[in-house]
This record gives sequence, structure tokens and C-alpha cells, in this order.
Amino acid sequence: MRKIEVGFSPVFFNVYDSPNDSIVVIIDVLRATTAICTAFKFGVKEIIPVATIEEALSYKQKGYLVGAERNGLKLDGFDFGNSPYHYMGSNIKDQTIVLTTTNGTQAIETAKNAYKVVIGAFTNLSALCNWLAKQDKSVLLLCSGWKNKLNLEDSLFAGAVVNEITKLSEYDEISDSALCAKYLYNMAKEDPDRFLHHSSHRRRLAKLNLKQDIKYSLTLDLTDIIPILIDNKLVKMKI
Ligand code: MLT
Repeated sequence: MRKIEVGFSPVFFNVYDSPNDSIVVIIDVLRATTAICTAFKFGVKEIIPVATIEEALSYKQKGYLVGAERNGLKLDGFDFGNSPYHYMGSNIKDQTIVLTTTNGTQAIETAKNAYKVVIGAFTNLSALCNWLAKQDKSVLLLCSGWKNKLNLEDSLFAGAVVNEITKLSEYDEISDSALCAKYLYNMAKEDPDRFLHHSSHRRRLAKLNLKQDIKYSLTLDLTDIIPILIDNKLVKMKI
């Protein structure tokens, strides 16, 4: 039986039946999952997501390139923050990067034992949906939210995925959470930027002069790469 569920924040993960038997899509469109997709587009070899700053620091001391963000800001002493624009340089090609972010890497940690864990962003939406629709598996769209609370942008993206995959394939059950996200997306799809205008993280990033990150993160289909978690490392899925 193939189901679609949406976890509006990582605290929902264990609420669903057998989440570890589903494909879990990690969503943090502003900005962690967009930054991850960007790094793969620009040729990174692998990304090691870690939940804590301590773990990130210990990798840094071993000589790894490390991205670290908290509350939208790049942490001092690390190589990158969480802006997709930090991951566009030729310096990341074929490299291993370690990444810790406020919410996105925590969501990956929460779901790491699932059947498959993949990364979703507006920038890889079509590739992700085409692949998901062909899999004989239930889907849990896990929003990273903000500190375990719901946020608007991840919920919106979850709705975009529900919208697309239900056009491409027949699922046995589309849960209320999935319907809710889809209805939200249908209200927003003509102008997602405008729809998110009053949302908290959009305001937070705008205050930090990161409006260009928002614009980039809402751009559709810049890559057909789907990052997948294998042995606790994100790598480019071989399709
Ligand atoms: C996160 O992981 O919470 C976010 O991606 C925050 C950010 O925009 O840097």
C-alpha cells in the first residue's frame, strides 16, 4: 500500500506508521536543502551532514571543508555558511564537505534509518517527483521547519511534491497532511514569493540581506540531481 504523508516538522517523524519503511524526503528549502542541491550541481563529491557544532568542529580540526550555520548566520571559523551561493565555487568540485545547519541537518539525523533518505528543493523538484513516482514505496515528506515548529516554505514545497507525484502516479492513500500541503501549494503556486512574504524565515533572511538566497531557493528545476543519504553521507543518486 503506497501512502503519501507530510511531517510538518521533524517531531512528526515517529507519529507516522513505519516511517522507516518509507522514502523520506528531507525539506528545508530556505536554505539547507537548496544549498545541498546547489553543491551537487557544482560538483561536490559528498556531503556529511552533522547535527551539532561540536561534530562539525571535530571534522574541521581533521582538515575537512565545513559549512556551519545557526539562526541564518555563518559561524566563525568555518569555510561556508548555508547560502546556496557559498556552494557555487570551483573550490568545492570533487570535495567532501561537512555541513551543520539549524534545522535541515537535524531532520536528516532524525530520519537517517529510513528505507531511503533523499533531499528535496524547488531547484530539483521535477527530477525528484519523476523519481518518487516510479518507486513502489510510500513517501514521507519531512519538513525541517524551524526549531521543531511548522514553517510555511517547507510546507509549501511538500505541497508542490504532492501535487506533482499524484499527477504522475496513483497512490493508495493521500493523507490529510498531504492534502493540507497540496491545498496550501495550490493557493500559493502563482506567486510563491509573494505568498511567503510574511513568513518568519523569509523575514529573518531579508533582515540579514539574504533576499537573493530566497529568490534562488524558489527557482524551479535548476538541476536534475537527487542527493541521497548512503552510509550517513549524501551522494549524487545514480538513476
Ligand atoms: C536551517 O537548517 O535551519 C536553515 O537552512 C536555516 C538557514 O536559512 O540558514
